[in-house]
Amino acid sequence: MTDWRDFPKLELHLHLEGAAPPPLVRRLAAEKGLDMVGVFDEAGHYNSNDFTSFLRTYERVSTVFSTPDDYRALTEAVLTECANNGVIYAEIFLSPTSLGYDPAKWTDYLAAIEEGADQAEQAHGIVARLIPVAIRHHGPEQAVIGAKTIMSVPRGRMTGFGIAGDERLHQPKDFTPAFKAMAEAGFRLTAHAGEFGGPESVRAALDDLKVERIGHGVRAAEDADLLVRLAAEGQVLETCPGSNVSLGVYPDLASHSIGALLAAGVKCTVSTDDPPFFHTNMTSEYTELEATFAMGEAQFARFARTAVQAAFCEPEVKANLVAHLDKSGVPGA
Ligand code: ADE
Ligand code: ZN
Repeated sequence: MTDWRDFPKLELHLHLEGAAPPPLVRRLAAEKGLDMVGVFDEAGHYNSNDFTSFLRTYERVSTVFSTPDDYRALTEAVLTECANNGVIYAEIFLSPTSLGYDPAKWTDYLAAIEEGADQAEQAHGIVARLIPVAIRHHGPEQAVIGAKTIMSVPRGRMTGFGIAGDERLHQPKDFTPAFKAMAEAGFRLTAHAGEFGGPESVRAALDDLKVERIGHGVRAAEDADLLVRLAAEGQVLETCPGSNVSLGVYPDLASHSIGALLAAGVKCTVSTDDPPFFHTNMTSEYTELEATFAMGEAQFARFARTAVQAAFCEPEVKANLVAHLDKSGVPGA
């Protein structure tokens, strides 16, 4: 078994609050006197048995982050943990919806998140970009209000826009106005689909939201025609295998569709989604993929190089990332 910790990795699908280290959450909750009963299990891990309980715990965890400095500390901690697992570039989903969508508040919070990202970059060399996301179960009107707020504040590292939350509610087309406005303002687009929704949800994200990437998308493997389309169009999936197993999309990693997706010629990347909720990190994702699918350096190099191509960052940043991979001896130069 290889130690993949130092292998250079890119992570395109990581939720800021979902990556919150439990000790930081416990500390902030204690300082603020917040009730965290039910949030942690006996071992001190987040309680998350299925998608519904995961979303509930996620929202409670988010409430401990209530000042700009909380968000600075969270961003710095999350990116440091990424860097400790060999991640050289990360795109982080932001959904500080407990703030509401007041532009003045967003300006202050984003400045703090930028400061946390600066600190991590200076200390560890990790580069980050930010993707604010609408929350599907909060509905299409909130998504439009959110989009207007995001467009009105300094952009900083924000380069994309997306949607997360409960895929079982609403349809992608309900969110077309928010996505269209964000695309016109120059934001690159991704959407969670094909995680709890079937192949039709992936088609709808592509056709109705005009996204460039799909968050998860793994259930596309249930539809042979869709696989042909994804491969022909070069669509990129942000797969998160550990997350899917933890939330019961697949009973175990051996049943996961990633092998079938790759065999069909679909471009895949690997990320952790909400690592402490799912007892994962980027190193263990690679270790598990090696153990279960006999993947190795050649496949992990393809994940990295696909992620560079699909990243929502400037061409100069991509050139630096390619140089980093080449210098590190990652195949595919
Ligand atoms: N928000 C955070 N993680 C998510 C996931 N895996 N699916 C949908 N929404 C999310
Ligand atoms: Zn996600």
